[in-house]
Amino acid sequence: MIFVTGGAGFIGTNFVFEAVAAEPLLVIDKLTYAGNADNLSALEKADGFQFVRADICDREAMARLLALHRPKAVVHFAAESHVDRSIHGPADFVQTNIVGTFELLEAVRTHWSALDGAARSTFRFLHVSTDEVYGSLNATDPAFTEVTPYAPNSPYAASKAASDHLVRAYHHTYGLPTLTTNCSNNYGPFQFPEKLIPLVIANALEDKALPIYGDGLNVRDWLFVGDHCEAIQRVLKIGSPGETYNIGGKNEIRNIDVVRSVCRVLGELRPRPHGNYEDLITYVADRPGHDRRYAIDPGKIERELHWAPAETFESGIRRTVRWYLDHLDWVSSVRDGRYRTWVEKNYGGRAVPTSGRMRISE
Ligand code: NAD
Ligand code: TYD
Repeated sequence: MIFVTGGAGFIGTNFVFEAVAAEPLLVIDKLTYAGNADNLSALEKADGFQFVRADICDREAMARLLALHRPKAVVHFAAESHVDRSIHGPADFVQTNIVGTFELLEAVRTHWSALDGAARSTFRFLHVSTDEVYGSLNATDPAFTEVTPYAPNSPYAASKAASDHLVRAYHHTYGLPTLTTNCSNNYGPFQFPEKLIPLVIANALEDKALPIYGDGLNVRDWLFVGDHCEAIQRVLKIGSPGETYNIGGKNEIRNIDVVRSVCRVLGELRPRPHGNYEDLITYVADRPGHDRRYAIDPGKIERELHWAPAETFESGIRRTVRWYLDHLDWVSSVRDGRYRTWVEKNYGGRAVPTSGRMRISE
């Protein structure tokens, strides 16, 4: 069995659907606003699938689950993951991302130390992290490699950086067989509609403004979530303990161009009754401390583990838009009261409409 923390979130859900065919899984999730047990309801009766609602900060609960199920690996997705939320309220990020990872590591270390033989040598703790720990690049800087110094700029990035350091230390000090992956921006099915791409799709379909922070020229490297999950599988199976692997799609795109692509594909698949979706693009006040550019050099995982993404941005964004169009009920079910409160908090004070109609809040 494999434990999957945060398996009811965006990437975790995609990972679980893919991995459950090969291995029995136990999903451990606290079900914060970002976790949705319904995502996994299709697996409720599937062989080899179990779900438990628990907090990774609860070391005793983690220890009990480890003793009961004796997993051969833990894939650790659970985190607070939204940069804007970390600016408004960093405490949850420190709690889950740093304290939670520490408590989980302690429970896992105790469990692993008592194993022997093959169970001990083949055990793995895979920590899923982000490229944001490396900070911001200028236009001509080389892409992040595994030896780029850490320089996190947001409370989210700082909390993930701290968790990466703890994982590294548990390998170095105790010999725990850890693996760390640092991935670029994911997109695809099941992403909570407060992140850029699903937010733009959902707002466009409701004829609401498409908010672009600042000048829209910030660059992110975009990776289809299925390609990320495939990379994680490969790292889990053949990665070397103690190593870090950068995962990216070699798809550096400016935010404004990401939004235009979404508008173009939406326009083809579900034309706007009057005008173009691009008319809804609205520049708003920038995110404080907004990192200008992220870029990943995935050379190590390509060379050593023979991984490469299957989707281009064009094919991935088409799959993504189609998925959201086919799952409008999912979008409306997650855009509940807590989400609306968030929209008011994040966008209420920053709206500077320069085009389109500003109608982000209800
Ligand atoms: P998400 O916010 O969609 O999901 C996080 C999940 O963790 C949710 O199901 C939530 O309920 C659960 N969770 C939160 N706190 C918990 C706790 N204390 N105990 C147990 N469960 C808890 O996030 P995501 O986008 O799926 O990201 C998953 C992981 O991948 C995160 O560690 C994130 O830092 C990392 N990552 C994400 C991206 C991206 O673009 N989304 C890119 C690189 C790395
Ligand atoms: P996001 O999806 O929040 O991911 P991250 O901050 O982890 O990269 O944002 C992606 C980019 O889009 C980021 O540069 C911020 C920008 N952005 C907007 O311009 N408008 C928005 O409403 C949001 C949510 C993000």
